[in-house]
Amino acid sequence: MGIAYADRRLVGFRTHSGQIGILDASCSHMGADLAGGRVVEESLECPFHNWRFAVDGRCAAIPLSTAIPAFARQRSYPAALVNGLVFLWNGNKALYPLPFFEGLKAEDCVWAGPLNFHLSCPWYLVGANSFDTQHLYSVHERELLAPPVIWSPGSHALASRTVARVGMGKWYDRLIRVVSGPEATMTAINWSGSLVLVSAQLKRTTTYGMVSLRPLADNKVLVQIFAWLPRSRWRALHVLGSLAASIRLLLIGQFLKDDVALLNSIRAGVLNLVEVDRELARYFQWISEGAL
Ligand code: FES
Ligand SMILES: [Fe+2]
Repeated sequence: MGIAYADRRLVGFRTHSGQIGILDASCSHMGADLAGGRVVEESLECPFHNWRFAVDGRCAAIPLSTAIPAFARQRSYPAALVNGLVFLWNGNKALYPLPFFEGLKAEDCVWAGPLNFHLSCPWYLVGANSFDTQHLYSVHERELLAPPVIWSPGSHALASRTVARVGMGKWYDRLIRVVSGPEATMTAINWSGSLVLVSAQLKRTTTYGMVSLRPLADNKVLVQIFAWLPRSRWRALHVLGSLAASIRLLLIGQFLKDDVALLNSIRAGVLNLVEVDRELARYFQWISEGAL
């Protein structure tokens, strides 16, 4: 399948043995789109002259030639298959293992999603949301009960934690208060700017939301949201687990709906912060340093 990523086009495929390949989609021979090709055993075959490329980008075969020139190679991207989802690393080598929610293992969870939002704003403004203290009041009706805490849980990550009282004005907040409790501790760990793991802990429930940010051309971004939930030990309850994850996703979607409308109205080029934006300032500095 073809994948749009920033101003590039990539292709993703799965070989017969189950390996995942993510390559530049433009064939190194004459530029045909490899997304129109087919998988042949352990490689992806170009639809034009049938050159075959392995998951590491190496050209494995040229039908009418025994010699394989050095240029016959696709750029490849490290990929991880986790619980049916493919994550790709935007670089030659993954600099750290794929992160997950603290205390949970992906294989012990179910997920629902994605909820997709195509936004017309620079990608890094989406991740800024969890460091935007002012908007918690103005957009989400959350009243902070303590100052936000910002820390770096490791290289390539920046985290925020807020403790807030849930509002009463919106139907989903009223539902959350009844079902889960009135106080929410929200922890968001942003990895390299493009993967945000959010856990919302209330008295009776914890919700795990995963936000993937994929930059697109023309300063646009695809935001994909997944809700994760630890899987029940009882197999018969697995369907209920999936249903519960879908309900969480619905609530996350409602929570983010107002963010989406506002982010969509932002254009790059205006950033004038004040003292109360100190967490935002820290985030933007981190992003500008390469999210290290
Ligand atoms: S363009 Fe791909 S093999 Fe020729
Ligand atoms: Fe928000």
